[in-house]
Amino acid sequence: MAENIHPIFDQTLTRTSKEELLRQRALVIWMVGLSGSGKSTLAKGLEFALHQRGHLTQLLDGDNLRSGINNNLGFSEADRLENIRRSAETAKLFLNAGLITICSLISPTAEIRNLAKSIIGEPDYYEVYINAPFEVCAQRDVKGLYKKALNGEIKNFTGLDAPFEAPTNPALEIRTDQQTYEESLQKLLDAILPRLTFG
Ligand code: PPS
Repeated sequence: MAENIHPIFDQTLTRTSKEELLRQRALVIWMVGLSGSGKSTLAKGLEFALHQRGHLTQLLDGDNLRSGINNNLGFSEADRLENIRRSAETAKLFLNAGLITICSLISPTAEIRNLAKSIIGEPDYYEVYINAPFEVCAQRDVKGLYKKALNGEIKNFTGLDAPFEAPTNPALEIRTDQQTYEESLQKLLDAILPRLTFG
């Protein structure tokens, strides 16, 4: 693919130099879950809480990425794979700049999540399953998408006529149907904050 391409590697200004400057260890927090499970809400809350604690962060949300860099992609399996590939490559750029990068994308299949993990690299990829059952998400229907999908107005809707394979081995699972937003955010912070300590 990348024929006649010779990436540069700067041995002097490394990711560690940047982490040192920022006094934090970089990490990609990859939030997975159905539409309406609470990914974006928790991702925003987590980003704000980390910022308040002095961390430099970047949020990459599926809807936002699909409004820009991924605006030529739909919801077929191939397009979702390409959506995740580009999003993971983007996350890796922020990771290498030393930032805590929070990605909230449905990432519906094991194949798709494995791709994200392989691009980012195992120790830097921290998968969080934001879990709420389909029926609960459909009842919340914050954006009115479930109503449209159930009426046949949206094709390839995740969990309906497009697959959602629940992650089998996430680093962390948050049940947003069983605990409050505050409890979910605290659980995220308890798990993630110790990983961000530099040195
Ligand atoms: S994926 O599967 O990871 O490529 O999806 P993602 O990039 O996260 O985009 C999901 C958001 O797109 C909106 N949307 C849909 N979701 C699922 N299925 C279909 N067909 C669909 N069409 C539009 C929806 O707002 C999703 O956002 P969230 O935050 O998940 O609700």
